[in-house]
Amino acid sequence: MPSSRRHFLSLTAAAGSMAAFGCSSAPRPSPAAAAGAGPVPGGGQAPAPAPPASPQPTASSGSSGKKTLLVLGGTGFLGPAVVEAAKARGYTVTLFNRGKTRPHLFPDIEKLHGDRDPNKGDGLKALAGRAWDAVIDNSGYVPRIVKASAELLAPNVQQYVFISSLSAYATHTTPGADEAAPVATMADPTVETMGKDFENYGPLKALCEQAAEAAMPGRVTRVRPGFIVGPEDPTDRFTYWPVRVERGGEVLAPGTPLDPIQIIDVRDLAAWLVAVVEARTTGIFNATGPGEPLTMGGLLDTCKAALGGGANARFTWVSAKFLEKPGGEPVDLPIWAPAEGETQAFHLRSTERARKAGLTFRAVQETVKDTLSWWKTLPPERQAKPRAGLSPEREAELLRAWRAQPRGAGKLPQ
Ligand SMILES: NC(=O)c1ccc[n+]([C@@H]2O[C@H](COP(=O)([O-])OP(=O)(O)OC[C@H]3O[C@@H](n4cnc5c(N)ncnc54)[C@H](OP(=O)(O)O)[C@@H]3O)[C@@H](O)[C@H]2O)c1
Repeated sequence: MPSSRRHFLSLTAAAGSMAAFGCSSAPRPSPAAAAGAGPVPGGGQAPAPAPPASPQPTASSGSSGKKTLLVLGGTGFLGPAVVEAAKARGYTVTLFNRGKTRPHLFPDIEKLHGDRDPNKGDGLKALAGRAWDAVIDNSGYVPRIVKASAELLAPNVQQYVFISSLSAYATHTTPGADEAAPVATMADPTVETMGKDFENYGPLKALCEQAAEAAMPGRVTRVRPGFIVGPEDPTDRFTYWPVRVERGGEVLAPGTPLDPIQIIDVRDLAAWLVAVVEARTTGIFNATGPGEPLTMGGLLDTCKAALGGGANARFTWVSAKFLEKPGGEPVDLPIWAPAEGETQAFHLRSTERARKAGLTFRAVQETVKDTLSWWKTLPPERQAKPRAGLSPEREAELLRAWRAQPRGAGKLPQ
């Protein structure tokens, strides 16, 4: 795959939240063979069977009779939305994390501290002997580590919801591909690093799914989200577009207005995850939206409309070919991926199975408005340093270079 295409993929659903929360891509070889699980059958939606009778947990957070949920993670982006959704449905929620990320969040819920990696510090000790109705694993990136939590929790939870990614698929070239599409593989499944271009993220997610399934056969929900967006998104990828459109003037718009875009509002995903737990839905699900087909042009027009028509933004569409690596430098135009070549169907996954299992979507305009409102609450120094997209200088430079192109060099008719 050309490195420019790899770059687009690595900027996609791959690793944004990891980078934002400081997860390392530095080498960390694992001598212990980890995956432990071969391929498993495709997704069904049967209710999860009851957990094995033994060993019995010595304590249960369900002693009050309330529904109980453990979240592995909980203080990043998706986690807080899950906590809110679960609390709204009457769940008693427990978080397990290291206590490093936003420890001030949720003072009213139980927090257990440790490390997902059983080889680090107290590891998973805080989870031992405890029971919950279900666990949602938001923070699993390495199969050895997912295997450890799934095996430990298998006797004491009924369902394991693993948050994977659409990046788990081997290819992104078949429009409408569903959950039966082959997943990515790795030559050495014991590698635990993300790789230079985060190219191991997807294959590792696929191995994590398999490790969870091997530990709790028939009781796992493998959720493969596309771009998760909305208020509190630490990556600024989707956020870049409403913020950029609001700034107005000539906006570099990538590809063509008809290039497809799939995104899911974090609040819609979180509400559905809790519904999946309530219904004990298991199987494999692509989890992206929105409700109606969206294009890059539609997204930018929606941003403009959400600003009450007051924005003077005008869009200059710059071809995917030009954006491959102008001047040898990769271009960060977040969310979008070229609607050709290896990424042509990245934003065209089938979501029928999740919809049938109750996934619903708010209007894109609501996501745009709420994201922009949230952005404006951030301190000026944070707003001054967006984590994705083009700086005004880089955008102007690219637009100049685009205009200087000889006619017919990949330009769209103006
Ligand atoms: N963002 C997207 O567009 C997108 C797309 C597709 C899939 N996904 C997937 O969606 C998931 C969402 O991630 P999120 O960050 O938003 O989840 P989250 O549940 O909000 O937060 C991640 C949490 O994991 C904890 N954590 C990290 N490393 C840990 C460790 N070694 N041991 C214990 N706790 C640890 C962090 O807290 P401490 O630092 O305090 O430990 C943090 O609370 C990820 O699995 C991601 O791959 C995201």
